[in-house]
Formats: sequence, C-alpha cells, structure tokens
Amino acid sequence: MVKIGIIGAMELEVEQLKKEMNLNAIIRKAGMDFHEGTLDDVPVVIVRCGIGKVNAALCVQILADEFRISHVINTGVAGSLNARLDIGDILVSKDAIHHDMDVRVFGYQLGEVPQIGFREFQADEHLVALAIGACKKVNPDIHVMSGRVVSGDQFISNKEVKERLISQFQGDCAEMEGASVAHGAYLNSIPFVIIRAISDKADDSAEMDYPTFEAAAAKHSAALVKEMVKGILP
Ligand code: ADE
Repeated sequence: MVKIGIIGAMELEVEQLKKEMNLNAIIRKAGMDFHEGTLDDVPVVIVRCGIGKVNAALCVQILADEFRISHVINTGVAGSLNARLDIGDILVSKDAIHHDMDVRVFGYQLGEVPQIGFREFQADEHLVALAIGACKKVNPDIHVMSGRVVSGDQFISNKEVKERLISQFQGDCAEMEGASVAHGAYLNSIPFVIIRAISDKADDSAEMDYPTFEAAAAKHSAALVKEMVKGILP
C-alpha cells in the first residue's frame, strides 16, 4: 500500500501541505505531531521534524515503525553551493551525503558512515523524475535541477566553509536534515527524495537572505510535493 511520509524541518515548510490535506488523526511522538490523512486521495503522513540530523533520523524511524510508510519525501529550503542554483530555484536530490561525518583516521572517505560501504545515499530515480516533472508543471518559471544534497548540523553562512563543501563533496546545496532522512530511509529500505528550494547562497549574505526568501521558497516546494504525490500511486 502506498503511504507517503512527508517531512519538513520547520513549520513553514509543512504548513501549506497540512492546510490542504484531509486530516484523519494527529499522533504525537518524540515531540513531533504526525498528521495522518490524505492529500488528493493519496495516503500521507505529514510532519515537522524540527531542525537538524537527529530530529530527522528519529522522524524517519517513527514513520517507518509506527506508520509503515512506503515512500519518504523531505521538503524544505537549502543554501546553494552551485553557481547554477540561484535563490528561488529548486534542487531535487540525486543523492545525499553527511558533510560532518569524518572517520578518515580509520580509512573511510570523508563523509562516509562507517560500515555502510558507500558515501552517497542514492535517491529513488522514479521519485526524482516525478519531482522534476511536477515542478515543471506547477512552477513552470522556476529553474529545477537534480544534484547533490550535503547535510550537517551547521547553518552554512561563510564563504570558506561553502568552498570546502564544494571541493570536498561536490555538493549542490547545503541543509541540515536531508542526509539523515536518506540514511534512515536506506536502513529501512524505503525509497526517498529530497526537494529543496534555495533560500540563500550559503555565504556571508546567507544570514540576511534566508529570512527574506524562506517563505516563498517553502511555498514552491510545497506546491511541487502536492503535485508529485499523485504520481506515486500505482
Ligand atoms: N537551510 C537553508 N539555508 C541553509 C544554509 N545556508 N545552511 C544550512 N541549512 C540551510
């Protein structure tokens, strides 16, 4: 059975989707409110996980154990690491990496979680294609591309750190939850995709741009998610 977990980090990111859903129940766990119901007749569980990788990982595990979700979508905003991604554009994950995982001392690649066997968590190709198609349909004026999400428990607002994330990981955008959603989805064999609207350039102007563009960015990713869930039904 299809049941889609939709995770946003902040209220703004899930507020729009919650308004549009048909609500059956709200179940509170680990301080998170899981909104169960349907979105255009598609079973969904919409939840704000809070900021950062621990919150995101806990949230995915609850969605897997308690709600038996079949797919997971992580929506939200991100800082751009790619000159081709401007504020307002949308990045759909090809893959995701933890940029703050460093066990190189034992021979692992920077960013690689020990004992998993790879560094990049691959997004589900079908979900990626659906997200890009949905974006072109509902946000035709918005530039959308697929690429690499790098995640860490850090808001990136410094040019040197930004340059390091580009050179070490070839990241296209930086945020604080995606790789944990991807990691949790992988461990539970659940297909995932991360959709991020660009709210800032992850450099010295990020602090200023973020609050200005956050609302519009969150609105665009919500419209995209609403459109794409219809395509997931078998
Ligand atoms: N989310 C939005 N912008 C971000 C940034 N610059 N760093 C981390 N997470 C973000």
